Amino acid sequence: MRADGEALLEVRDLVKHYPLTRGILFKKQTGAVHAVDGVSFELRRGETLGIVGESGCGKSTVAKMLVHLERPTAGHIRYKGEDITRLSGRALKAVRRNIQMVFQDPYTSLNPRMTVGDIIGEPFDIHPEVAPKGDRRRKVRELLDVVGLNPEYINRYPHQFSGGQRQRIGIARGLALNPEIIICDEPVSALDVSVQAQVVNLLARLQQQFELSYVFIAHDLSVVRHISDRVAVMYLGKLAEVGTDVQIYDHPTHPYTQALLSAVPVPDPRARSERILLAGDVPSPAHPPSGCRFRTRCWKAQPKCTAEVPPLEIPEWFREPGGPAAHVSACHFAEERSVVPNETGA
Ligand SMILES: Nc1ncnc2c1ncn2[C@@H]1O[C@H](COP(=O)(O)OP(=O)(O)O)[C@@H](O)[C@H]1O
Ligand code: SF4
Ligand SMILES: [Mg+2]
Repeated sequence: MRADGEALLEVRDLVKHYPLTRGILFKKQTGAVHAVDGVSFELRRGETLGIVGESGCGKSTVAKMLVHLERPTAGHIRYKGEDITRLSGRALKAVRRNIQMVFQDPYTSLNPRMTVGDIIGEPFDIHPEVAPKGDRRRKVRELLDVVGLNPEYINRYPHQFSGGQRQRIGIARGLALNPEIIICDEPVSALDVSVQAQVVNLLARLQQQFELSYVFIAHDLSVVRHISDRVAVMYLGKLAEVGTDVQIYDHPTHPYTQALLSAVPVPDPRARSERILLAGDVPSPAHPPSGCRFRTRCWKAQPKCTAEVPPLEIPEWFREPGGPAAHVSACHFAEERSVVPNETGA
């Protein structure tokens, strides 16, 4: 929980368009899926940045670009000031070691034919300098212990574990190379609610123990609340609002954040001031709306919202330093509107 550290990752205007093609032999590009369309943020040392948004808004695509599983169409990713967007070869290998990923679905992301020991130790094949051959089993046992699994399970197969245990195996694998950053892509979304908190608590403990920085992706705001120092809300390939946990949960100014928040379960439903129901579906990212992408579902939309893309900046009328609404929000008509009671119940 130290949000004042140096910027480890700086993401600027990141774009990923997937081409849409027609024809079998002579492929012709007919358009593009605008999966990510100009996303900028930074991740500071020791902090957790939550990224939240509905399914299909581009969260996994951002995650994959950060770990070089996808190549950006445009934009830059800097790691400790160095532009790593288009690295290759040995330089890329060195950087990748420090930025690892934990995947969403522990049922499909672990190879069913490999033992847990081989799954967790696989990164050592690429980086033998971290654990020389003779030392690997000891290292893997240590990692199993660190994530709360019995080291004796080293020869078991993924199907012999529960969902929560499999996600622990995925986390152990992510830790194997002593990374600085872990990109957690919906690490608890596929798990039973009762197990979710255990895995989130494990990640929080590991963060302290190994001084990790996290990008923690989730599709609703309740999951990231207790682990995030800052939260970025994403809609249809763009960031809608970014702020500290207090700014986002207690002083949201973007209508989309307010709608998402109004859907978060609260202990006493009578205490909720109102529930905002969004009209319609998320538009296709192949044909995003002009201007503000949220305008087709926004109850406040005006002609300006169709004509002009709202920039992600602190709204002029909230610029008074220190004010809780003084955080970036991509809305022409940003305003405070309290939709959930704050934690003191006030
Ligand atoms: N390889 C791909 N080819 C074409 N479209 C893709 C590909 N991967 C993702 N998409 C599309 O990009 C959009 C964003 O996807 P994704 O990043 O997986 O969203 P999220 O993780 O927020 O659910 C979706 O519309 C998805 O269908
Ligand atoms: S810019 Fe307009 S459409 Fe977009 S969120 Fe703000 S009020 Fe709604
Ligand atoms: Mg995803």
